[in-house]
Amino acid sequence: MTGRIVVVGSVNTDLVVFADRAPGPGETLVARDFALLPGGKGANQAVAASRCGAAVSLVGRVGRDAFGASARATLAAAGVDPVDLRDTDGVASGIASITVEASGENRILIVAGANGCVTPDDLPDFRDAGIVVLQLEIPIETVYAAIARAVSAGVPAILNPAPVLQLDFARLRGLAYLVPNRGELAALTGRSTARFDDVVAAARRLVRQGIGAVVVTLGADGAVLVREGRVAHVEAPVVMPIDTTGAGDAFIGCFAATLLHSGDEDVALAAAVRYASDTVTRRGAQASYLPRPSAQP
Ligand code: RIB
Repeated sequence: MTGRIVVVGSVNTDLVVFADRAPGPGETLVARDFALLPGGKGANQAVAASRCGAAVSLVGRVGRDAFGASARATLAAAGVDPVDLRDTDGVASGIASITVEASGENRILIVAGANGCVTPDDLPDFRDAGIVVLQLEIPIETVYAAIARAVSAGVPAILNPAPVLQLDFARLRGLAYLVPNRGELAALTGRSTARFDDVVAAARRLVRQGIGAVVVTLGADGAVLVREGRVAHVEAPVVMPIDTTGAGDAFIGCFAATLLHSGDEDVALAAAVRYASDTVTRRGAQASYLPRPSAQP
């Protein structure tokens, strides 16, 4: 495969509180630390793909504010082409309020802000795209329009259905890869995904609805790829998690970059599991993504 990775998605600033545990309703707790970090599923996936050696551009929107300017600078420093990242009047840049517990587990609330203003008119023609990558932190009509445009241009599209919502699978027909986590897969199919066999069965249902392959990220259990006639499971290395924020985004960015230069989804799956596992040993989303020189073409 050739061309660049075009990510169509969100740009956030993450307001991250590190605490022993998240407070319950009506409870006040003293936390350990706070950090303002670059985030947003779209931006994270773009940065991860760039760190894994791909040429990447990001289609999205930020407000004309300090968070927007800072996100723009961070993306440029990470080698992501901001040619299709628009400044938007009258709306704040997107933010995420995140609590990270001592276990490394995270809870995230997002305020879409400018991400909610990304329209189908913002989409480029994908002429030089090798892969298009999408998530659900921008309006769903824009996501469907991008998938339709990628499919008609013959460009493989990858959709990360997060934050999860009910999807019209007729409008996902031709999608090359759907990449949910276990909870998102359960929400999309209305099926239990508690056991590994349940995960495979639920993924098969989506493949039967016209998705090329479903790749389910399983955290400490690695990831599994399901397509018609085959199942491939890659175990994750054992690591000590500090912060799991953005690990799924690291997986997708690395998967896309490795798929683009190798053309081999099994190689991409193994690389993505290793890359995402490493990121949970450091704080932050983009802040935890190291360059992966071995992914260079
Ligand atoms: O997937 C992690 C990301 O989700 C965070 O960076 C946050 O901004 C939200 O978009």
